[in-house]
Amino acid sequence: MSDSTETDAIAQAMASPAFSQDPYPLYAKLREEQPLYRSPQGIAHLSRYADVDAALRDLRLSNDRDRLARSLAGGQGVGETLSRLMRKLGRVMTNTDPPDHARLRKLVNKAFSAGRVRDFRPAIQAIADELLDAAQAAGPSFDVVSALAYPLTTTVLCELVGLPRSVQAQAIEWIYLLENPTSAGLSVEQIEGIIDQLYDYLRSLAAQRRAKPTGDFISALLNVEEGGDRLSEDELLNACFVLLASGYESTMNLIGNAVLTLLRHPDQLALLQAKPELLPKAIEEVLRYESPSLLVIRSVAEPVEIAGGRLEEGELVYLLLGSANRDSARFPDPDRFDIARSDNKHVSFGAGIHFCLGAPLARLEAEVALGTLLRRFPRLHLETDTVEWRTNRALRGLTSLPVAY
Ligand code: HEM
Repeated sequence: MSDSTETDAIAQAMASPAFSQDPYPLYAKLREEQPLYRSPQGIAHLSRYADVDAALRDLRLSNDRDRLARSLAGGQGVGETLSRLMRKLGRVMTNTDPPDHARLRKLVNKAFSAGRVRDFRPAIQAIADELLDAAQAAGPSFDVVSALAYPLTTTVLCELVGLPRSVQAQAIEWIYLLENPTSAGLSVEQIEGIIDQLYDYLRSLAAQRRAKPTGDFISALLNVEEGGDRLSEDELLNACFVLLASGYESTMNLIGNAVLTLLRHPDQLALLQAKPELLPKAIEEVLRYESPSLLVIRSVAEPVEIAGGRLEEGELVYLLLGSANRDSARFPDPDRFDIARSDNKHVSFGAGIHFCLGAPLARLEAEVALGTLLRRFPRLHLETDTVEWRTNRALRGLTSLPVAY
């Protein structure tokens, strides 16, 4: 352990705008010097690949909503707000432990299978084409985030869940506010009001689908059955909520991060253009190199010896996925962007029982978006030397990405 001055310096660096722009030097310092770092608020941070991967699979590190809420409430301000909101939201698979988690995941997965996602490809392609037609009509330059990544990922998710076009913008605004409760500057009561409105809307939609099923996710969920077990009404609404809430922001960031990283590495872009079959591998390398999810959180249910130290019951732990993905102990030359990299087992989608349920959809959307963009605009280039990353410690994504063709 280094002294508290050093510890404060790390906390200060993490709170600085420079960290949002480039977190990797500080991650490297943590991996090297304090693989188990505790912030002044007492949050434990794990940064090495081996520890993060082990922690993701360790069931003594809990995702249980009530435990997480208690650990968060141990902090101040933001922690109190988040813990109250977490209690208000229903029990979703992301914040349950076994055995409840396995039951929910199995049932929801039946309605959200990889096959079902694959069938959605033509719809995703049509949405991407429509958006790029509009971008092209508007002129020789556009913003990848607002013209493609954001509208593509939000529309795909709303269509998949089954929200009619007329309510999609409102639903996405609600979800955004719920995902960013503190930066939106709303009171806890206002946010609780939004949760109620969203759930009321989903409840009325479920009632419509019960009367007249369609091919959407809500209708599929209503039908799901496994050995006589079914989702309750609340569980069904929670499942819709969790897909809407977990599904678009990180996928939008993946698309923006992919375009930026390729345009900044012309040799890799040229390789991809010469060998389009490398697209799936290129997307995996973007996931590793610019991980859209920088961290996930856990609450310690039982003490765990890890990273040369010990996590105590009730502690909050950040597993730094973005750091694990740049660990030279796991990836040779980790700061090199190499779309042909083999053995690219990044942890951007997590690992173990909570491994991202939406990974096939995220990969598919990124493939369609990137593939279409590069086919239609082979001379795509950046319109700016400097880009701005969102100031969010958990998600890595761009505020905008101006390009020209
Ligand atoms: C690039 C895009 C995405 C990234 C980087 C990402 C990342 C992650 C990560 C790291 C986890 C593990 C959380 C944990 O261990 O606590 C996770 C879980 C989850 N993700 Fe994603 N995700 C993405 C896209 C999506 C999409 C498109 C959906 C759905 C439409 C989705 C739905 C979920 C769900 C439901 C879980 C919880 C699974 C469980 O607890 O069993 N994600 N995601």
